Amino acid sequence: MLEGYSFNDVLLIPKRSKIDSRKDIDLSSKLTDEIILKLPIISSPMDTVTEAEMAIAMARNGGLGIIHRFCSIEYQAKQIEKVKRAENYFVENPITISPYTTLKEIKEKIEEYHFHTFLVVDEANKLLGLISKRDYILEEDDNILAKDIMTPFEQLIVSYKEITLEEAKEIFNKYKIEKIPIVDKDRTLKGLITFKDFEYSLNKKATRDTKGRLLVGAAIGIREDYLERAEELVKAGVDILCIDVAHGHLEKALKAIKEVKKKFSNVPLIAGNIATEEGARDLKEAGADVIKVGIGPGSACKTRIVAGVGVPQITAIQLAKKGAGDIPIIADGGCRNSGDIVKALAAGASCVMLGFLLAGTDEAPGEIFNLKDRLVKYFRGMASTTAYKDKLAKTKETTEYVPADEGVNYGFVDYKGSVVKILNDLEKGIRSGFSYCGASNLKELWHNAEFIKITEAGLRESYPHDIKYLD
Ligand code: XMP
Repeated sequence: MLEGYSFNDVLLIPKRSKIDSRKDIDLSSKLTDEIILKLPIISSPMDTVTEAEMAIAMARNGGLGIIHRFCSIEYQAKQIEKVKRAENYFVENPITISPYTTLKEIKEKIEEYHFHTFLVVDEANKLLGLISKRDYILEEDDNILAKDIMTPFEQLIVSYKEITLEEAKEIFNKYKIEKIPIVDKDRTLKGLITFKDFEYSLNKKATRDTKGRLLVGAAIGIREDYLERAEELVKAGVDILCIDVAHGHLEKALKAIKEVKKKFSNVPLIAGNIATEEGARDLKEAGADVIKVGIGPGSACKTRIVAGVGVPQITAIQLAKKGAGDIPIIADGGCRNSGDIVKALAAGASCVMLGFLLAGTDEAPGEIFNLKDRLVKYFRGMASTTAYKDKLAKTKETTEYVPADEGVNYGFVDYKGSVVKILNDLEKGIRSGFSYCGASNLKELWHNAEFIKITEAGLRESYPHDIKYLD
């Protein structure tokens, strides 16, 4: 019988290290030729973890978010659009309004897009003016029209040609303005450059495309509407698709991979989940660009208990790495701290996918609520019966068969504040792990890593022990 190891079964043996400063360690990880993460962390496509806000935070901090699929196609596509609009070097299609838009409608748009400035154009897309906060903030009449409060074209600083961010910087400085509309000689709107985007561009860590937009992924399934869903997500600008099913080694999943790659050959595809060498090999042969590994290690998973199936995660990563060969693998599930992330990477993963560690943050979907004097947020498994039923209500999928309940239905996690602090703390821990292993990058970690199996006494010794806590 095979023996399988999980995070708590092993430790990494410290190695002679030439690392001077942990800041010099390069944590970058290549997912595809175009997608290189400076922080090898991906947020899980769970409905209590990743929608637009989480995906934006993940990409700004060097990681990536995968928008969940437990919603309508329209809703998921909208999340993608929100991420793609969050930052730009150059806004090609700025959100515009007609001069007859009421202030009430403008306020609705502010709610929807979280933008505070709108360009006013006529039917031929000719720029008429601009509405910014200072034009409406003191206005009390919700029925007043955009044309009566906008700053008119004649008073705007515009550019009649495309300019670079560096050129824009000079104009921002000279005129103390925050928006530069780009128009042609007939005043037809061609784009927009904003001061905020200039500020964003200074963040060199962010995961971006060549136009300066944040990268984002989205999950799809393998049943009914998955090709239609993929098509709408691609139209919305998704950068990577993820076939995200509990048992990725189903023949139906292999067929879905082939179909998706045939139809969207230029969109990279993550596929999973599997936990074996054969699984990884089959997914790769079917056309997957990245393999996602993990059957049952997740914090909200009940698969191993309900179905009796799974492979402890360290062993699953090592097996999958053999089958995946030269394509990257994502270790999905079971990481409880930065030490587990280092172990997952050392075992051969290019990145980890996190659910629990990122749940309960401001950026995760859902409200904060008070539970017996604790601030908490809702968290559940996506193979739970409640998630399954909610998905049927929100999508076109139909079925009379409700599968086994393989996830926690009504879980919660402590409210943790902003995910940025969590990511910063995890990053520091990962850097520390690389340093102990004498690795200045991921390749060196893979080369140097040596695991030691520990006993229960070793595990007890690993946690703080014997001292009393004041808090
Ligand atoms: P963590 O441990 O980071 O794991 O919370 C996140 C991953 O767990 C998987 N997941 C599930 N697995 N039943 C399962 O067997 C479920 O209901 C379930 N929900 C999430 C998923 O791979 C996720 O990324």
